[in-house]
Amino acid sequence: MNSLLPTYGPRTIEIAQASGSYVTDVSGNTYLDFVMGIAVCGTGHRHPYVQQKIEEQLNRVWHTSNLYMISGQQRVAEKLTKGTHLTHAFFCNSGTEANEAAFKLVRKWTKKTKIVTFTQSFHGRTFAMLGATGQDKVKQGFGPMVNDFIHAPFNDMEALNLIDKETSAVWLEIVQGEGGVVVANQSWLQALQEKADEYDVKIVVDEVQTGIARTGTRFAFEQTPLQPHIVTLAKGLGSGIPVGAMLTTTEATEIFGPGSHGSTFGGNPLAMAAAEATLDILFTPTSLQHVKDMGDYLKKGLTQFVDGERFIEVRGLGLMVGLVSSEPVAEWVTQLAETGLLVVMAGPHVIRFLPSLRVTKSEINEALMKLEQILQKEGVV
Ligand SMILES: Cc1ncc(COP(=O)(O)O)c(C=O)c1O
Repeated sequence: MNSLLPTYGPRTIEIAQASGSYVTDVSGNTYLDFVMGIAVCGTGHRHPYVQQKIEEQLNRVWHTSNLYMISGQQRVAEKLTKGTHLTHAFFCNSGTEANEAAFKLVRKWTKKTKIVTFTQSFHGRTFAMLGATGQDKVKQGFGPMVNDFIHAPFNDMEALNLIDKETSAVWLEIVQGEGGVVVANQSWLQALQEKADEYDVKIVVDEVQTGIARTGTRFAFEQTPLQPHIVTLAKGLGSGIPVGAMLTTTEATEIFGPGSHGSTFGGNPLAMAAAEATLDILFTPTSLQHVKDMGDYLKKGLTQFVDGERFIEVRGLGLMVGLVSSEPVAEWVTQLAETGLLVVMAGPHVIRFLPSLRVTKSEINEALMKLEQILQKEGVV
């Protein structure tokens, strides 16, 4: 009997070993991993420096709770905020928790309950974040949602008129990840910033998927005109060790004082060791340039498959890339795994590529070859 609640669909692959861009399953099959735990292992699997720092921490102390000082939190907060307008961090364990912290902060800060969010967004699965998420499929069967959230069409200028003096916050992803790798337009973001300024509305940028160098800058908002009051992070922050964070500005220290929010595990020493090592590797100009270069290389390589019929478009930022099809892509994703390439869907029509941020040209070539093999077999190319 299967003793697990069937919240996930059937899973046929169990990964037993992982290193860099490659994983091996329990039967000994090796795969080139362009999923990376869904944009989590940005440094690649088991990066030796991250592993060393985690092992050193394992030999000191694992857990203390936030009753005691954890100096790693201060160091990680500084590394995350340095060179930005953001000044303070709160640590938690996942993306949905980081967003939940942002929701509580915005409620207390603005004392208003109207938040403008966008269709096809994904913000997590706590109750408030189900309300925030702009996809009905995650809400079915759960009854009334937290109803602060209004869902406007993404990249739609007219929709910005929903931002008014009753609005507490506007909440968005710069690249909608689960929603299909949809990149926000610069002119739309400029207009959004102006509307938010006009009505003194907080801007919350969910960088759970786009953050920690995934798009070629430390945070995706750095490539936009946005000056968010709150940025949420998780996924890539710990290279695979669970950790989330909410970043905000000095003003918020007045709102989130002692007792207003907390977490038993949030910012634990092990997570902080992993996060600090991850940032040391990924937040360097060379490393960020590598993400941009490899992102361009991958996009260019995928463009050869765009025929205007079966494949319509390649889109994304940095190493968050989607190949958009006119047809459902589930079968391609299964076939690619069978040829040894792991990719993940972003909605029914988009094949999403989320390789290690240290991926090499030859690994990208290998992925493109595997894709070509499958398409040739199907008579597509
Ligand atoms: C943009 C975004 N926000 C929030 C979440 C939720 O993060 P978690 O699964 O760590 O709770 C995700 C997860 O895919 C995400 O992509």
